[in-house]
Amino acid sequence: MAKQFLLSDQTLFRDVDVFEIDYVPEFFNYREPQMSELAYQISPALRGGRALNAICTGLPGTGKTTSVLRVFTELEQFRGKVLPVYVNCQTDRTKYMVYSRVYATLFGHTPPRTGLSILSVMDAIGDSLQKRKLSLVVCLDDANLLHYDGVLGDVLNSLLRLHQDYPGVRTGVFATISDIDLDLVTDLDPWVVSVFRPTMIYFPPYDADEIRGILRERVRAGLYPKVLSPEMFDIIVEQTMESGDVRVGLDLVKRAAMHAERAARTEVVREDIMAAYEQARHVHLVCTVRALSAGERLLFRQIAELSQEQTEPLISKNIYAAVKDTAKIGYTVFFKRLQKLNSLRLVDMIRVRSSDRTNEIVLRYEPEKVREVCG
Ligand SMILES: Nc1ncnc2c1ncn2[C@@H]1O[C@H](COP(=O)(O)OP(=O)(O)OP(=O)(O)O)[C@@H](O)[C@H]1O
Ligand SMILES: [Mg+2]
Repeated sequence: MAKQFLLSDQTLFRDVDVFEIDYVPEFFNYREPQMSELAYQISPALRGGRALNAICTGLPGTGKTTSVLRVFTELEQFRGKVLPVYVNCQTDRTKYMVYSRVYATLFGHTPPRTGLSILSVMDAIGDSLQKRKLSLVVCLDDANLLHYDGVLGDVLNSLLRLHQDYPGVRTGVFATISDIDLDLVTDLDPWVVSVFRPTMIYFPPYDADEIRGILRERVRAGLYPKVLSPEMFDIIVEQTMESGDVRVGLDLVKRAAMHAERAARTEVVREDIMAAYEQARHVHLVCTVRALSAGERLLFRQIAELSQEQTEPLISKNIYAAVKDTAKIGYTVFFKRLQKLNSLRLVDMIRVRSSDRTNEIVLRYEPEKVREVCG
């Protein structure tokens, strides 16, 4: 009989979905203050007005997206009054795509494939919001990505001024930002800020006890009892704290259990976690690099090369001097690309002097690996 590769009757997982990135956790603690602040921002919309605007900021994996989505789910009971629209800026990166998302949520289908101009899309949206007297609340999730692409100002400005062309239309915007060094209020044009005027809602990193609590609930729901001993669980918590991102912990649990399964163990051992850690890091690198533009990828590669050539720390200005001729870019574009690499956790930017934006840049991966992945 031929060897069967996909046959295994032994699994350590009670429910493997629990570790997927889009899983909606049953228990979502530690974020009550932020969610009640979001609800407060929305409250005027429930009374026929417009929601206040907000920026949710915090490092990756601090529960921003989940909090907004939870509040949006609660809004379903006010369907006739409020239209919450969730826009994932990792995929929707132009003004047209943002408006298509609003359109799709409003009409239940995307704009016709044959193509509507952006003005027709906006027209349809404005008309329908007017007629149905709906207050629009748009979440621009990971809005910093729109900002690096230079389209955030235009998107905000046009959403928040919809009422000028469609009287009576009310719009509020929640932007989530994982780049905590980014100060949108000083970066955006004054005429955008004057209509935006966001409330800042901060999502602090989880401490070790909170990480422990979050992971414990997931392990309980996702793995059979005794698969992960308290000692192994502690190692995972520690590794997660190091990265500061809950997602790393969730991914580690999943991969470590899969690794143990493959070795026909019924319990996760240290070796499984170490193997999982290496894989998880590499996968993050490959996936993130795939989402970079050609220019960003070139810069990332150049930083890797410089870090191999140089022994002293890499300073932003010196990197610029080294790359500007091949990349043919000005300092502003260069700095935005650098900020993006930082917010995607490909490099760390350490502010040396705040007065003149001098930063030390530290590659988060081995330079050879980066060169290999960037091609
Ligand atoms: N308090 C919590 N309880 C349970 N799970 C949580 C909690 N906070 C975050 N998570 C889980 O961690 C993962 C990351 O959370 P989320 O996507 O909301 O973070 P984020 O702040 O939006 O991150 P990013 O800036 O990278 O988009 C999700 O799988 C989420 O379910
Ligand atoms: Mg998010």
